[in-house]
Amino acid sequence: MKKIDAYEANQQQGLLLNANENPKNIDADILESIIEDIKNIDFNRYPDNDVTMIREAYASYIGVDADQIMVGNGSDEVLGLLIHLRLGSNKTLYTLEYDFSMYDYYATLQDANIVRFPLKVEDTFDVDSFIQLGKKANPDLICFSNPNNPTGRCIEKEDLIKIVEAFANTYVIIDEAYAEFSDSSMIDQVDVYKNLLVTRTLSKAFGLAAIRCGMMIAHKETMETLQTYKVPYNVNTLTQVVATRVLQQKERVQENIEQIKQARDVMYEDYGRDKPKNVTLYPSCANYFYGTSTNKEKLLQLMDDAQIIIRNFKDEYFRITVGSNEDNKKVMDILRKV
Ligand SMILES: Cc1ncc(COP(=O)(O)O)c(C=O)c1O
Repeated sequence: MKKIDAYEANQQQGLLLNANENPKNIDADILESIIEDIKNIDFNRYPDNDVTMIREAYASYIGVDADQIMVGNGSDEVLGLLIHLRLGSNKTLYTLEYDFSMYDYYATLQDANIVRFPLKVEDTFDVDSFIQLGKKANPDLICFSNPNNPTGRCIEKEDLIKIVEAFANTYVIIDEAYAEFSDSSMIDQVDVYKNLLVTRTLSKAFGLAAIRCGMMIAHKETMETLQTYKVPYNVNTLTQVVATRVLQQKERVQENIEQIKQARDVMYEDYGRDKPKNVTLYPSCANYFYGTSTNKEKLLQLMDDAQIIIRNFKDEYFRITVGSNEDNKKVMDILRKV
């Protein structure tokens, strides 16, 4: 059996600022319409294998055709599918140091090599060095998140395009799990580049982590090939019903996204006005902050005492999800006591 670092699943009690979830649950009236939809489900039947309702609703949300979208049981599933397809022993994944842990999880399951481009949170991204190291690694798949999890940094779109062009014969996955909180996306490039795959999720900006729904978006021809590998009936009917109802309320989702972006900016301004002595937070284009502390033990203890759950990483690093303004204020007060 291969040795894999177990995924650190999120804790479910306290003020949950550890998994970059949306602080807001769905509105009561949307919930009511979902309950009505659920009454009409034929529970004895398998779900729609083509996931038509979600694909059509999401296609109109992002401005592509429905046949350019594959829906998965979370974006984890579509990421896993691609990694499974492209990697095996003697194959190489090229990603960033640091990035989302599930790439490692799936690549390790496939016995693949992983080459990581070192990128510290303070460094500026040098696309030419990225391409140079990548060419040496000769990868079978390139995959990284943008905005980056955990750092909250964004790579410029022109650099991303340079990467997709430089590795024209390799699938390049840009994982846009947090794109709604940033000002940029590569989705408008999928018609141009057949090797570009963009993944998205409803777990973050849409506040639907509970239902596990994510997408892959690609050029029509690329999707035609990939679609044949989708696991049959992978998206259950309950998920299809809930996601479709929420996707029909785009304006509300957008309003909530704006609130989170605003709360993030207010929190960072607050941080800048009176910087904690022993804590540094880095600017973020996502819904979380990456930070370091010279006294992380104390920071973790104070958070624990206040029942605030944050994500702890090795060495001096940690990550905190942006919550409501009130939650963020509590967090800042604690950071100043470290
Ligand atoms: C960068 C990134 N990609 C993908 C995912 C997985 O999202 P999903 O809930 O759609 O599986 C996450 C979840 O934390 C993430 O941070």
